[in-house]
Amino acid sequence: MSDNKKRIYSAIQPSGMLTLGNYLGALRNWVNLQDEFECIYTVADLHAITVRQNPAEFRKRILETYALLIAVGVDPEKSLLFIQSHVAAHSQMAWLLNCYAQFGEFSRMTQFKDKSLRHADNVNVGLFSYPALMAADILLYQADLVPVGADQKQHLEISRDIANRFNNIYGDVFTIPEPYIPKVGARIMSLQDPIKKMSKSDDNVNSWVAILDKPEDIMRKFKRAVTDSDACVKYADGKDGINNLMGIYSSISGKTMEEIEAEFEGKGYGDFKVAVGECVVDTLKPVQDKYYDLMKNKDYLESLYKQSAQDAEKIANKTLYKSMRKIGFIY
Ligand code: TRP
Repeated sequence: MSDNKKRIYSAIQPSGMLTLGNYLGALRNWVNLQDEFECIYTVADLHAITVRQNPAEFRKRILETYALLIAVGVDPEKSLLFIQSHVAAHSQMAWLLNCYAQFGEFSRMTQFKDKSLRHADNVNVGLFSYPALMAADILLYQADLVPVGADQKQHLEISRDIANRFNNIYGDVFTIPEPYIPKVGARIMSLQDPIKKMSKSDDNVNSWVAILDKPEDIMRKFKRAVTDSDACVKYADGKDGINNLMGIYSSISGKTMEEIEAEFEGKGYGDFKVAVGECVVDTLKPVQDKYYDLMKNKDYLESLYKQSAQDAEKIANKTLYKSMRKIGFIY
């Protein structure tokens, strides 16, 4: 890794099947950033246990998520790609940072408020202090930039606050991370309720497309996508379903909304939905092939995540020990 490139950090939870929304909204950018930046990417398994996980299922998901990241194009030769829990410094640093974060500011996190309503039977302390772990992830690697979606902006903001607070006491220990807003980034909405973001936690499976969905399932979901009664492929206010389908089509084909309108002029929604479904199937096909190939070779995957964790640990421990020395620990 070279020193003059800016450093990017991002992570994704292994909490379920990754969706087309994850792919077009975030992961494709992860891939594109790899040439311009020094990228560090993590499967955030420690974050995932803030909601209860079935052990066998969880173990499977972690590996699947890791393989899927490579399948979409994250290259472990170019970037660090590891599993968060394999680098102990994340947990250690999170504890330290907890002691520089305030109860009041964590209480105001909207994700905490939402999740504590949704999982009212398990409002654990980890769910509450989640932003300290996320700050630890980012700050350990002295990341300059963090690509985040709207739902994680508040957590990045608080990571910056914690870092500044720490630096004000002890001197320049942490790089203050900036949000990275990608040049192209699609916000993919639910196919059934297009004012909501596409989410794998949605109970209605027809509302989201998994990266690993079979072609026939993808086609079915697009054919059933909620639209309107206008029957005109046009990007306009109030046409949330069509706008979303156009967004997906544009994001994959690179065509502008005007070009798409022209292409489907005089055609019905049926034809349009089939065209969108087919282009999604075609983009996901090579990703799926690569994924199934990788999953046949678990030893290879293991060699990749082990090596990457070792490399990551060197960077992380340097920051961890520096912080501990500053605080006054003997080591
Ligand atoms: N909390 C993020 C999410 O749920 C995942 C994440 C963990 C993350 N650590 C991070 C994202 C550090 C950016 C930077 O989506």
